[in-house]
Amino acid sequence: MERTDLFFSLLVLLVTVHGAQEHTDHILMPGEFESWNVEEGDEMVEEAFDFPTWTSESGGRFLVSVDSFGAVGDGISDDTQAFRSTWDKACSIDRAVFLVPEGRSYLVNATRFKGPCADRLIVHIAGTIVAPGEPKDWDPKNPRIWLYFSRLNEVIFQGGGLITGSGTKWWESSCKTNKSNPCSQAPTALTLDLSTGVSVRDLKLKDSQQMHFAISRSEAVRVSNLQIEAPFDSPNTDGIHISESTNVVVQNCKIGTGDDCISISNGTSNMRMKNIDCGPGHGISIGSLGKDNSTAIVTSIVLDTAILRETANGVRIKSWQGGSGYARAVRFENVKMINVANPIIIDQFYCDSTTPCQNQTSAVKISQVMFRNISGTSKTPKAMKFACSDTVPCSNIVLANINLEKENGTTETFCNCAMGFDYGTVNPSAECLHDTTCDGSNRTKAAGWESTTYIHTEL
Ligand SMILES: *[C@@H]1O[C@H](CO)[C@@H](O)[C@H](O)[C@H]1NC(C)=O
Ligand SMILES: *[C@@H]1O[C@H](CO)[C@@H](O)[C@H](O)[C@H]1NC(C)=O
Ligand SMILES: *[C@@H]1O[C@H](CO)[C@@H](O)[C@H](O)[C@H]1NC(C)=O
Ligand SMILES: *[C@@H]1O[C@H](CO)[C@@H](O)[C@H](O)[C@H]1NC(C)=O
Ligand SMILES: *[C@@H]1O[C@H](CO)[C@@H](O)[C@H](O)[C@H]1NC(C)=O
Ligand SMILES: *[C@@H]1O[C@H](CO)[C@@H](O)[C@H](O)[C@H]1NC(C)=O
Ligand SMILES: *[C@@H]1O[C@H](CO)[C@@H](O)[C@H](O)[C@H]1NC(C)=O
Ligand SMILES: *[C@@H]1O[C@H](CO)[C@@H](O)[C@H](O)[C@H]1NC(C)=O
Repeated sequence: MERTDLFFSLLVLLVTVHGAQEHTDHILMPGEFESWNVEEGDEMVEEAFDFPTWTSESGGRFLVSVDSFGAVGDGISDDTQAFRSTWDKACSIDRAVFLVPEGRSYLVNATRFKGPCADRLIVHIAGTIVAPGEPKDWDPKNPRIWLYFSRLNEVIFQGGGLITGSGTKWWESSCKTNKSNPCSQAPTALTLDLSTGVSVRDLKLKDSQQMHFAISRSEAVRVSNLQIEAPFDSPNTDGIHISESTNVVVQNCKIGTGDDCISISNGTSNMRMKNIDCGPGHGISIGSLGKDNSTAIVTSIVLDTAILRETANGVRIKSWQGGSGYARAVRFENVKMINVANPIIIDQFYCDSTTPCQNQTSAVKISQVMFRNISGTSKTPKAMKFACSDTVPCSNIVLANINLEKENGTTETFCNCAMGFDYGTVNPSAECLHDTTCDGSNRTKAAGWESTTYIHTEL
């Protein structure tokens, strides 16, 4: 991270700052932009995971199975208490393995698994953990969580098992599904909060009540080989949601849900995504940012190698009017789009409320965003859309080697107050990025863009 910051600071010194306007930041040169990277194999992450798994070295490990605390595992009996007791034990001894045995299904209610724990805990989920399916029975004290883990240090989650949220009735009672339902929040299946040096790998998450996996206020988290699956029309079932976290890696994940495959929100920096298979869903998004006039800061985000199939968006940055702060130093590269409705999109007019959003002069500033080697098919003619604020325009948007086509049709780029440049082959043409007329003085100019049409409320 420091290197990235230093890099940009140097650029500020080296490169002429264009004019004296508040919103114009320095101009990046193509070569310089490409050399910027989120560090591969961050030392802190490597250190945290430099220890063997219990299956390869079970000798020194202390197995604490939910079965030995009375869990039944028939999918019907309530095993919540057994899980809680198992946690208390496993968390209190060094080199423990919290074990959910293979071949059985454990019904567990909303539970907080709190740390800090003794050294080198492994949470090994080989069997299935299933949530009660009836919203009416949900613990009213924990409306937003199901399996919530906090204050963990150097813990590994693994085991090849399944975590299934039994979300059907939650989706039916969502106001997204039926407008006469009240809008209320549903639980996140798996939450990792206030933690450091945690690895989550080789697990399946399915049919969550709302978001599948949320990582918040954490550092040095590595997520790999997750399979996340929910129906395309299940409301707000984001795959992985990251907020207020730094140094997060998400790799080799296959995600198909009813919302964003991966969403990245306020307070996230230095995050890398690699080898992501996304679809169905709403794509890979930064945002939404700046809701209710809030300040958001997101920096140094890289997506490298992804395939998006039949998603509503491809790679996206979305922010509300009235927000402040910034999203910058973002790179999306080596992405294949298959029939994606909005393959490349920046939307500073994101509005997802029942009433229309008022135009405001402040916005979350979006700059230094690179899209490189992105190809495939667009479902709509507007393959690239940069709908930026008149008063806080997007700057330093860089496109390189883009080829987005539409079956039996042509594609185009829409810009409003987006400034940047392109090189290599760029189809559709992105001439409109060269427009530099947005200085905040013409408030009527933003007319013409259409706001995202599907409904989306949370976040
Ligand atoms: C736990 O789940 C069971 C089965 O769905 C339910 O009957 C019970 O009320 C739940 N308990 C709490 C505290 O949520
Ligand atoms: C929506 O909910 C209302 C009230 O609960 C119900 O009467 C109606 O049948 C529902 N509509 C659909 C399409 O499910
Ligand atoms: C945004 O993130 C910062 C940094 O973590 C945090 O202090 C702030 O409260 C967050 N703002 C909102 C609106 O969540
Ligand atoms: C955001 O700020 C605008 C302009 O000051 C104000 O009209 C609006 O009520 C604010 N919205 C919220 C949710 O605070
Ligand atoms: C461009 O991206 C595709 C994935 O869509 C990848 O297969 C290819 O190797 C990339 N090309 C370069 C030059 O990196
Ligand atoms: C494109 O055109 C071909 C040949 O006319 C036709 O078979 C195909 O269905 C069309 N595809 C779409 C998406 O319109
Ligand atoms: C503002 O933008 C509108 C729409 O593009 C244009 O018609 C008008 O002439 C512009 N006004 C100024 C002062 O530039
Ligand atoms: C907001 O601004 C856009 C473009 O300047 C305009 O088309 C739209 O009507 C405005 N909306 C409201 C609610 O003022």
